[in-house]
Amino acid sequence: MENIIELDRRYIWHPFTNLKKQDQLPLKNIVRGEGFYVYDEDGNKYMDAIGSWWSSIHGHRHPRIVKAIKEQLDILDHIHFAGNTHKWAVELAKRILEILGNGFTKAFYSDDGSTAVEVALKIAYQYFLNKEEERNLFISLSGAYHGDTIGSIALGNIDEYHKIFKPFIFKTIHIPAPYCYRCPVGKKKGNCNFECLDNLIKVLKENKGKIAGIFIEPLFQGASGFIVYPKEYLEQLYNIVKDIDKDILIIFDEVATGFGRTGEMFAFKHLSFSPDIIALAKGLGGGPLTIGMTCVKDFIYQTFENGKYPYLYHGHTYTANPIVARSGIESLNIFEEENLIDKVKEKSKYFRKKIFEYFSDLKFVGDIRQIGLIGALELIYKDGKRDLTPEENWIVYREVYKTGFKYGVMLRPLWNVVYFIPYLHITYAEIDKLFEATRKTLIEVYSNF
Ligand SMILES: Cc1ncc(COP(=O)(O)O)c(C=O)c1O
Repeated sequence: MENIIELDRRYIWHPFTNLKKQDQLPLKNIVRGEGFYVYDEDGNKYMDAIGSWWSSIHGHRHPRIVKAIKEQLDILDHIHFAGNTHKWAVELAKRILEILGNGFTKAFYSDDGSTAVEVALKIAYQYFLNKEEERNLFISLSGAYHGDTIGSIALGNIDEYHKIFKPFIFKTIHIPAPYCYRCPVGKKKGNCNFECLDNLIKVLKENKGKIAGIFIEPLFQGASGFIVYPKEYLEQLYNIVKDIDKDILIIFDEVATGFGRTGEMFAFKHLSFSPDIIALAKGLGGGPLTIGMTCVKDFIYQTFENGKYPYLYHGHTYTANPIVARSGIESLNIFEEENLIDKVKEKSKYFRKKIFEYFSDLKFVGDIRQIGLIGALELIYKDGKRDLTPEENWIVYREVYKTGFKYGVMLRPLWNVVYFIPYLHITYAEIDKLFEATRKTLIEVYSNF
């Protein structure tokens, strides 16, 4: 048989990959996965530190998820979802809405995180039309990432990903994110009154009656560098919005934060308020399969039932696929029957203690961030006194990626941020193993440059 890597290079165009040959990272041919581990064609075993792009909540091939999928294949594989329904879509939606509580009454299915965000955008815009108001401005945070479709990149604010598309995306307003390690308004971490929100006050006052919604990745911004931030920021943001323009919809993108990652089933459960719309994906399908869901509170749905625009023009071929829905239901069963959230909460304490123990003494680790079972290390120059230059950044990124394999860990840094988002069933011993391997990786990379 021909070499898979060679065939891949011949036929495939990979996501998030620089096609300039010299910049290409080595490709791994992964042949099997089990629990925390994936295996390559040479039989090497790697810890999946980033949970297969943050989706693998129960680990690879969790036996209950595998069984549910196999059973479902013998019953119903797929059916289009306009004019049809099935019990698996209904059960998954019902149970998610019950967990969300707080007045969420309807779930709209889509395919993935980006489409769940697109649906949220459309609903928010159309909601105001139904109230006979024209609001077409949205706010999001600096460094925001909400997916890769045109609507979601309009909300996004990572130059590397979004800048070249600026000329043909719709205008959004970005307010400073609470990136406390590099405070956007020059304050010190833990010693401020969230002055970064002053800009929001200005924006709301200047655009009163024009803003439809504010999109937020609650408590941690993923793709911009795993920026974990205090819940007080969101509490204050909520009060400001309600004070100045209470009709603005608060929309949480919990595509990455949902399903236990932060130590609660959803990140908003850490807060004293709930959003009006929530976008879900990744863990929603239990890990191996893709599905998206946008949930709304009843007052939003009512405007569609009773307003001028009752028809939401959106629907993907694989909407509410029964196999994924069944896998998602089994995932919720695992959460419930194994008290998984309680276990994650308990393990998070250990994870927190250990991430500081393993990495605090390394001069080139500028900042350590953690929430739940999510952790990140922001790397700087080896003397700890300055940031990496863009060229050094690239070297560190590439070398961490490559060297990790030597120590049995599959890392994929976000430039100078090495992050961990492992499966929720990670054992205490595996936490140590993960940090130990990463520490060795970083020391080796930094000793060579
Ligand atoms: C917060 C957030 N929103 C949306 C998305 C897009 O999800 P998908 O890749 O499933 O389209 C991601 C993906 O990482 C994400 O982190």
